Amino acid sequence: MDADPDGRWKLNSEQAVRYRIHDTVAVVLIDQPPVNALGAAVREGLIAMLHRALADEQAQAILIIGANDRFVAGADIREFGKPRQGPAISDIQKAMERAPKPVICAMDGHALGGGLELALAAHYRIATPRVKLGLPEIQLGLLPGAGGTQRLTRLIGPEAALDLILTGKHIAAPRAAELGIIDHIAEGDLQQAAIAFAKRCVAEGRLGPILIEKADRVIDVDPRIISDVRARNAKKWKGTIAPFKIVDCIEAATRLSPDEGLLFERAAFEACSNDPAHAAMVHLFFAERKAAKVNGISATTRPRSIGSAGIVGAGTMGGGIAMSLAEAGLPVKLLDNTQQALDAGIARIRHNYSLSVDRGSMARAKADAAIAKINPVIGYDHLADVDLVIEAVFETRTIKHDVFRRIDAVARPGAILATNTSALDIDEIASVTRRPQDVIGLHFFSPANVMKLVEVVRGVLASDETVVSAMAFANAIAKVPVLAGNCEGFIGNRILQRYGTEADALLLEGATPWQIDIALKDFGFPMGIYLMRDLAGLDVGWRMRANRIAAGTLDPAAPDYVPLADRLCTAGRFGQKTGAGYYTYAGRTASPDPAVDAMLDQIAAEKNVMRGPIEDEEIVWRILCAMVNEGADIVSEEIAQRASDIDVAYAFGYGFPKYRGGPMFWAEQHGLPAVHDRIAAYAAKYGPRWQPSALLSERAAAGKGWDG
Ligand code: 3HC
Repeated sequence: MDADPDGRWKLNSEQAVRYRIHDTVAVVLIDQPPVNALGAAVREGLIAMLHRALADEQAQAILIIGANDRFVAGADIREFGKPRQGPAISDIQKAMERAPKPVICAMDGHALGGGLELALAAHYRIATPRVKLGLPEIQLGLLPGAGGTQRLTRLIGPEAALDLILTGKHIAAPRAAELGIIDHIAEGDLQQAAIAFAKRCVAEGRLGPILIEKADRVIDVDPRIISDVRARNAKKWKGTIAPFKIVDCIEAATRLSPDEGLLFERAAFEACSNDPAHAAMVHLFFAERKAAKVNGISATTRPRSIGSAGIVGAGTMGGGIAMSLAEAGLPVKLLDNTQQALDAGIARIRHNYSLSVDRGSMARAKADAAIAKINPVIGYDHLADVDLVIEAVFETRTIKHDVFRRIDAVARPGAILATNTSALDIDEIASVTRRPQDVIGLHFFSPANVMKLVEVVRGVLASDETVVSAMAFANAIAKVPVLAGNCEGFIGNRILQRYGTEADALLLEGATPWQIDIALKDFGFPMGIYLMRDLAGLDVGWRMRANRIAAGTLDPAAPDYVPLADRLCTAGRFGQKTGAGYYTYAGRTASPDPAVDAMLDQIAAEKNVMRGPIEDEEIVWRILCAMVNEGADIVSEEIAQRASDIDVAYAFGYGFPKYRGGPMFWAEQHGLPAVHDRIAAYAAKYGPRWQPSALLSERAAAGKGWDG
């Protein structure tokens, strides 16, 4: 759409929605790349073309179809928060429902959100076998606001509607047909099949049902269906009102008239639109897509095709990575040095899949298909023909270097060589090979088959083609890639390290691990930092710190250094696996331990610090400001391409609550000047570790957001 000189929008509706007559059927084609979203131009065009079809004597039926092998991906998310232009989706739906000619929607690709809601107002829906349908509004902190909660509930009943709308999942054509959402699955050319279907409707004199008037699935509904869902999930649905409102709307469909139900849904949709969670989740929607784009690389640089992979190391990480690749349909060679290690790795993979199947989160056939893709091997020669090798061995410099020399000796020219290191220097690893241009970091997060984030770490010698290939590969295996520069901790762990230091400082000043963890949980993290450390195990970090102290790169006598973790390890408390760490454990249940508080008192006494009460609000601000300040440095050092990439990394890899949009978004919401002033005050009180980032100072002074 182009703005005209008066600042109004020219809707270009004639381009967005086109009209043709095929025999006796009016074909209304939605053509609004990239995803045929229902922006103002499309809505205006649809109304105009529906009226044209209604007035056209030659048209005995109306077919609505999308261009470019897709139907409609929903409302235009870019319009949210702006004044509405043109007709509402409900105006189009009314015209469809009341049409005295059969209206058919023909769906290919995706029919999501407002797109599916549009189709639910048609008299019939037909689709290709590959179509994906869903109402994913919940992922944007919204509910289906174009009658979806009312029409779908009337069509498939409250139980199935709750499942579909509360998960936001996409369902395939067979399931949609089984539920009654699709009337016919068309093999072959969709438009031809839909025209034939429309002509049959006309010949048989069928006008078709109007879903909003259907009542059989919404009478005598057992109220426990609704109350059970509320009771089961109330705790889980923290931070966003959308799921609660969705249940309210579905309940409303079981007791209100169609018109009242639609009004009820409209009010609930408005409430969600004003919920701060909605803005945060829309931010993340666009941030995730932006993160996949690499600045400064020519669009002509194409990714290499990756049709097979080898993974070195069948441990927990290597196995998890193998599962991710196999689930995406990629054949994987899983390599280890001994049969025993391989057997243990494969057993672990099988066990994980069994758990998923037993939980009902994966079909047995899918798990079996994934296992069949994983081929355990011994000997590097097996890697000679794969397109990508991912190293996932111990985090020891010499071992990784040795592994890379071996991979380099056998891998075919043009193969991409990736390391899953979380801590080592990518440039050094690349330099032990004869092809540093093909070497890249692919930093997966544990459990790798579950966690979405992959940091793609670019060394100085990596070629553009390697970078683009790694990003495309991560996308292809359904991960969320974020490009990172090569530095200690890359993006995610560098920030984690910084806010971990701050959390330790808060302990020294008087907080307890329990208080900090509860404050972080209340903020929305799934678990606090001390529970997380206990879960990961404290011994690895202890050994790494001991090495750094021995090498003189870490000063345990520095005033900021809090040796609590070291003392816990000295006492044999390595975390959950030893039954004690920051907490004591009965199984997996953690309890605060007065002995830890005593250790903190002792450390504070040694450092002449008076411990005293600290407010939860202060804990959250100190930790968030530490993340933001480090994040700003990371952006200005070009370790991250943009501030929103940090939000994506934290939301998809570190449990930052999505309904808060990420640390950098959090800072913008509070205003960069306010965050800057807090950090400057901390610097005055706590010293140099709080030096405000130059980028933050500059953006705050300019009164701008991160993007200027
Ligand atoms: N509105 C505006 N832009 C959209 C959009 C939408 N609904 N859906 C996708 N886009 C844009 C993306 O931002 C991206 O733009 P870019 O190229 O500038 O980065 C481009 O379309 C392509 O998107 P993807 O990269 O995500 O393409 P994929 O092919 O990987 O995925 C998709 C396609 C599955 C349709 C995915 O884009 C998607 O899930 N879209 C959102 C669907 C959705 O949430 N719909 C509900 C909207 S809310 C609603 O309908 C409210 C209603 O109830 C009133």
